[in-house]
Amino acid sequence: MKFSPLVKRISGEGADAWLTHYAALAARDRGEDVIILSVGDPDLETPPAVVAKAIERLQAGDTHYCPAPGRRSVREAIAAAHTKRTGQSTDAENVVYLSGAQNALFVASMCVAGPGDEMISFDPMYPTYPATLEASGARMVRAPTSGNFRPDLTALASLVTQRTRAIVWATPNNPSGVILNESELATIGKLAERHDLWLISDEVYAGLAPDGHIPGLAAQMPERLITLGSLSKSHAMTGWRAGWLVGPRELAVHAESLVMCMLFGLAGFIQEAVVTALSIAPDAERRIRDYCDVRRARMVAALTGIPRIRTVVPEAGMFMLVDVRGTGLSGYEFMQALYKSQRVSVLDGAAFGRETAGFVRVCFATDPASLDTGCERIRRFCEQF
Ligand SMILES: Cc1ncc(COP(=O)(O)O)c(C=O)c1O
Repeated sequence: MKFSPLVKRISGEGADAWLTHYAALAARDRGEDVIILSVGDPDLETPPAVVAKAIERLQAGDTHYCPAPGRRSVREAIAAAHTKRTGQSTDAENVVYLSGAQNALFVASMCVAGPGDEMISFDPMYPTYPATLEASGARMVRAPTSGNFRPDLTALASLVTQRTRAIVWATPNNPSGVILNESELATIGKLAERHDLWLISDEVYAGLAPDGHIPGLAAQMPERLITLGSLSKSHAMTGWRAGWLVGPRELAVHAESLVMCMLFGLAGFIQEAVVTALSIAPDAERRIRDYCDVRRARMVAALTGIPRIRTVVPEAGMFMLVDVRGTGLSGYEFMQALYKSQRVSVLDGAAFGRETAGFVRVCFATDPASLDTGCERIRRFCEQF
């Protein structure tokens, strides 16, 4: 049987990077002794008030169809939280409630680009970006870094062509933790104005930045900026699949049409719980920031001094890049050999881009015992070289 050209665009690149992670998950389910440092899913519970609200709404029978772009109450709550954080004036009409920031990226990409277009994103990037952006039919162009994993803005400017439709980034970045600064954003903004480009800012880790604050372009460029967000990281609610996009009204109308084809609305009892979650966002964000600060320090201390590897301490987030080139292995080889000999799963840096090929990404958002054991096993592994 034949398939559409889409199936090729959404498969392939990066898939190998997750094999060790999936093997580790399966081993853990079999009760084996493995340490999983390969994924960003903190061992924190969803805030109890959020769980209580979802249960209350479920028991009240809130189990029927909902409006495609999300209930007005949840969109109003998202708009209010966005306005408070960014200074951009928004209301429910600028918001579409979606199934996580991943889903929001997909919707944004489908609505702003198509076959023959190009979208530029910065290396290193979250591994789902290439397939998600190219699902639209557009080609994704990688902009390189200028060192320390910050975007090379001169290279970025040279990559803009007549076909470019959007520049896409995550701030704070996964895997590097880099937070784009005001001056970098101003340069990107000017470029977008000159070439009339969309800007897509994935701010799923914004609540994890120091004081929950990141610089942004939302207030300055509301006509071309699409902000993506979710509760996954800020509230440790990855499995609830609760996210959104905020953008110009016209974009939201198109996104709503796509949602009609794709989701036909999302669960109402979860939307009500999301309103509760947003009402306690400052506390939830403080909780995850404090959690990450303690664990980041613990992991940096545990990895410092291990021969032949070097940690790159992130500005924000729950991940750390570790330079493994001193072992003579690529990130991929290190990931595989570490898992085979020590049963610790990390992620190959090459999954995020060319410049992180000699690195692995470790997640420190896990319980202290696993963190300590994982680091000890990494030490044992590295000492053999
Ligand atoms: C940069 C980035 N964007 C988006 C996502 C997906 O987030 P969500 O769970 O909201 O779909 C992740 C998840 O790790 C991420 O790291």
